[in-house]
Amino acid sequence: MPKITYIEANGKEHVVDAPVGQTVMEAAVKHAVPGIDADCGGACACATCHVYVDEAWREKTGEQSGMEQSMLDFANDVEANSRLSCQIKVTAELDGLVVRLPKSQH
Ligand code: FES
Repeated sequence: MPKITYIEANGKEHVVDAPVGQTVMEAAVKHAVPGIDADCGGACACATCHVYVDEAWREKTGEQSGMEQSMLDFANDVEANSRLSCQIKVTAELDGLVVRLPKSQH
C-alpha cells in the first residue's frame, strides 16, 4: 500500500498507509493526522485540507484544478505547491509522497 508522509508545521511526521483510490485527505483523516480538518468532506468547498506538496512530488500529483484554485483563494499562506489534499487521489505511483501542513492548520 502506498505510504504518505504528512509533516506538521512543527516538524512532526506522520507516516500513513494510504489505500489506492482514496484521497490524500481521506487517508489523513482516517489516521487522525492533526491539521487536516476536511470540513466539507472532500467536496472541494472548504480548503481546510490544504497541504504543500514536496517539490519532488509536484509533477506526479498534478496541477490544481480550476475549482481547487478558487477554493485556495480562501486559504492562508498559499504557495505555488499548495494543493487541496481531497483533490489528490492516491495511486501506486504516489508511494512515498511527502506533504507538509500549513502553520495555520494544527
Ligand atoms: Fe474541503 Fe478538501 S476537504 S476542500
